[in-house]
Amino acid sequence: MTQPKILVAGATGKVGGAVVTQLHAAGVPVRALTRGKVSFPEGVQAVRGDLSDPTSLDAALAGIDSVFLVWPFLSAEGAPAVIDAIGKHARRVVYLSSAGVGDEKPGEAITMFHTELERLIEASGLDWTALRPTGFASNTLGWAEEVRTTGAVRAPLPKLARPLIHEADIAAVAVQALTTDALLGARPLITGPELVTQERQVALIGEAIGRPVRFEEITLDEAIEQMKAAGYPVELVEAVMPAQAEMLNNPEPVNDEVKRITGTPARPFREWAVDHAADFR
Ligand SMILES: NC(=O)c1ccc[n+]([C@@H]2O[C@H](COP(=O)([O-])OP(=O)(O)OC[C@H]3O[C@@H](n4cnc5c(N)ncnc54)[C@H](OP(=O)(O)O)[C@@H]3O)[C@@H](O)[C@H]2O)c1
Repeated sequence: MTQPKILVAGATGKVGGAVVTQLHAAGVPVRALTRGKVSFPEGVQAVRGDLSDPTSLDAALAGIDSVFLVWPFLSAEGAPAVIDAIGKHARRVVYLSSAGVGDEKPGEAITMFHTELERLIEASGLDWTALRPTGFASNTLGWAEEVRTTGAVRAPLPKLARPLIHEADIAAVAVQALTTDALLGARPLITGPELVTQERQVALIGEAIGRPVRFEEITLDEAIEQMKAAGYPVELVEAVMPAQAEMLNNPEPVNDEVKRITGTPARPFREWAVDHAADFR
């Protein structure tokens, strides 16, 4: 087997998993970083490594030119050592950042760490691309259990409309950034193709699974308590809910960067729901 030159972190996750799948399908040798025992498609080289233990990354990085980096933590602590470790082996990092960077609001822990990661990577001397996606369509997987068990989604802000993006579209942009020089030094803001309200998202999930799903509106405070009770980290809950309330009046932008970069229009939420129907049945 040709030795891979690309290492994908977060390879068992939604975006990293799609990056591995698309590189592999294109015949590009790929190495997948994981902390656990996971089986990847034949031909994908799996390596053990933990981003919280930079010394564990040396073997994973040997012979690697380019890294797709997902940062799975809620602070930038530990990032300098990881970027140093990458810089000893590779020459390019494609970082999964966030659309919130450049428009940070005080107390938004998530945006703050992405801003810091982008800064550290840009200062590292490595070639870089920072992908700035809007909210992921896969966030709605948080509704999957209640859809399966109750046929309803209890959530606030039914009229909140977002251009949720399919992980396969983020991955397609990442593949361009990893395999061509077109996005060197770029920070593309990438979005889904249209604003879709939360109540419409729920209806489209219902259409995808072949039975109606109800939207039961709750208050923001109830939603915050619900998320905390479900075990979401407090920093995440306290950043996400006020940000969503703010988006009601200032919706995220919609653009056609996915099409410009990949040649294919961004997938609508309806398609995401069909692709993931099994999770909601
Ligand atoms: N959700 C959104 O709307 C949104 C929007 C913009 C940006 N983002 C950013 O997207 C990123 C998350 O991407 P995702 O949703 O694709 O991830 P995900 O599905 O939540 O998966 C997380 C991945 O991180 C890996 N991981 C966790 N801890 C690790 C560690 N200590 N060392 C190495 N790997 C570790 C996991 O792998 P193993 O457990 O197999 O090791 C898994 O592959 C976050 O940085 C988030 O801020 C999210």
